[in-house]
Amino acid sequence: MSADSFVDHLEIEGIKVNCGIIHTKDITFASKDPALSNHVLFQVKAFSCNYRDKRLILNTATSSSANRFNAIGSEFVGVILSVGSNVTDLKPGDRVIGNNCYPDSGVLGLPPGVPTNHASKEFRILHQAKLMKIPSIMPDHVAASFSIGGQTSYSMIRKLQIQPEQNILVTAAKSNTSLFVLHALQKYRHKMGIRVYALTSSGKLVDKIQSIGVDRVVQIRPNSEPWIDPETAKSILEETKGGFHGIIDPFFDLHIAKMLPVMKPEAKYITCGLYDQFTDLTGTQSPNIGLSPQHLLYTAMIYNLSIIGNCIGLTSDLAQAVEDYAQGNLPVVVDSVYKGRDVAPFFDRMYNSPDRFGKVVYSYEN
Ligand SMILES: NC(=O)c1ccc[n+]([C@@H]2O[C@H](COP(=O)([O-])OP(=O)(O)OC[C@H]3O[C@@H](n4cnc5c(N)ncnc54)[C@H](OP(=O)(O)O)[C@@H]3O)[C@@H](O)[C@H]2O)c1
Repeated sequence: MSADSFVDHLEIEGIKVNCGIIHTKDITFASKDPALSNHVLFQVKAFSCNYRDKRLILNTATSSSANRFNAIGSEFVGVILSVGSNVTDLKPGDRVIGNNCYPDSGVLGLPPGVPTNHASKEFRILHQAKLMKIPSIMPDHVAASFSIGGQTSYSMIRKLQIQPEQNILVTAAKSNTSLFVLHALQKYRHKMGIRVYALTSSGKLVDKIQSIGVDRVVQIRPNSEPWIDPETAKSILEETKGGFHGIIDPFFDLHIAKMLPVMKPEAKYITCGLYDQFTDLTGTQSPNIGLSPQHLLYTAMIYNLSIIGNCIGLTSDLAQAVEDYAQGNLPVVVDSVYKGRDVAPFFDRMYNSPDRFGKVVYSYEN
């Protein structure tokens, strides 16, 4: 851990954000306390943020006084220091990541979903069900990047019920979620002969996305018409014989109106999120979804489409993702790792760099 407390600052979406490292008193953990019998104490070694954390950061920056701080972060890797009396599957020295199992944590009364929105706090006490042990083959920077993307992408792919030789489209290809999805789809591509298509607004990164194992990467122009070059759109519709069997879309408010016309009858569209998570804080314009509920449901009805929502995933989704990683079948894209006083550069890279490709990690290790 960095020796001194310090505060730096940067701008995100034009809003000044103070950030830094603040030392506080260590927490205590009484392993014999019956109230903590299913809990563990662990030390966070590295953490990362996701799209969702941007709202929490901007909310703190715009609503709290400058001397108030909020520990941020939604993914972490930690080492267990001590365990409660009922904990048998985890022991001191084990390395763990968050288990975001949703919609049921698996334990009565224990909240589902992300274990913490304060993943950067160095010492934490959590219920054992909110953690998953990881193998030693997974390095800290990967582990700190893994649990939300791994669990969410495996859940969405499971719900698509992919069949041999289907055409699958993934939007916002450079988002961390879609990078996980594209890597996870590779085993279906190799074993079941599916064809994977991807949309991206990052024209300069088309080759990098293609090299994951995408059959065709298509550049979109998000703020202009036509969105896709008409000749390209025509050739994709010819190539796919009328469109896609499955679509994975992390930003439904940016894409769904454009997706309906390219879905085959009986196709499945699945989304895990939306772009418009912070425009109320930044005063910027919300995207126009370009579609009425009547049109959406009428089209779904006429063509027997499935419009599916997905929030995170099951413990078994995360376990499968970890196993696939351990078998060498799920590469994880880490853009960069920051340490020491590079807290503002860490957030700057995560939220302000158009060429970011993969997860950005902050590590407490020197
Ligand atoms: N519900 C859940 O369980 C769950 C779990 C994980 C993620 N999510 C959601 O999934 C989404 C992605 O999260 P993430 O952390 O993976 O995001 P991220 O890495 O920050 O996504 C950045 C990418 O989003 C695309 N994008 C951003 N603004 C755009 C715009 N104006 N027009 C077109 N594309 C734009 C770009 O992709 P290209 O450069 O390729 O165009 C950009 O590279 C969010 O909605 C998040 O809340 C939900």
